[in-house]
Amino acid sequence: MIHQSKVMISAAALSLLMLNAASAEVTQKGEALYLEHCAVCHQPDGKGVPGLFPPLAGNPRVLAKEPKEIQEYLQRIIFGYHGGLLVNNRVYSGRMPPLGYTGNINESDLLKLINYQRSAWGNDARPITFKELATAREQGRDTGK
Ligand code: HEC
Repeated sequence: MIHQSKVMISAAALSLLMLNAASAEVTQKGEALYLEHCAVCHQPDGKGVPGLFPPLAGNPRVLAKEPKEIQEYLQRIIFGYHGGLLVNNRVYSGRMPPLGYTGNINESDLLKLINYQRSAWGNDARPITFKELATAREQGRDTGK
């Protein structure tokens, strides 16, 4: 009896360890994708280049909570953006390429990349879901963006 409960505890501990390892893997993948697709402009530390590339660290858009704001944020990543921005009292009028639209990156990787940004460099927003990403694609198409 005693022996059996010990075995059960270690099985639970093992599955916890495996869960942690799985989420660490997702984060690592998200970071690698960010470094590959975004860091050239927004910089590896997410701080951007003042006046040229807006910061993603601490950027209220990246930390969006409301459904409508989340959709705007996701559509900027999927379809690109060049509407001009004001972030931390600086104006940006560059051009963000539509990386999520060109097929360079699949949906599951895009989600990892996005959720890496939402949780890296002191950012602590909740993860985006597949459904939210799918909605952003659909609605962006509808409006011809
Ligand atoms: C070639 C440079 C470049 C690359 C690569 C790039 N961006 Fe951008 N990004 C920009 C610029 C420039 C803007 C601001 C556009 C403007 O001023 O209208 C921007 C804006 C944004 C915004 C909107 C910020 C806000 O405050 O609304 C987000 C979010 C964003 N980028 C995320 C990403 C992600 C995620 C990637 C990688 C998948 C990425 N960017 C890759 C240049 C880039």
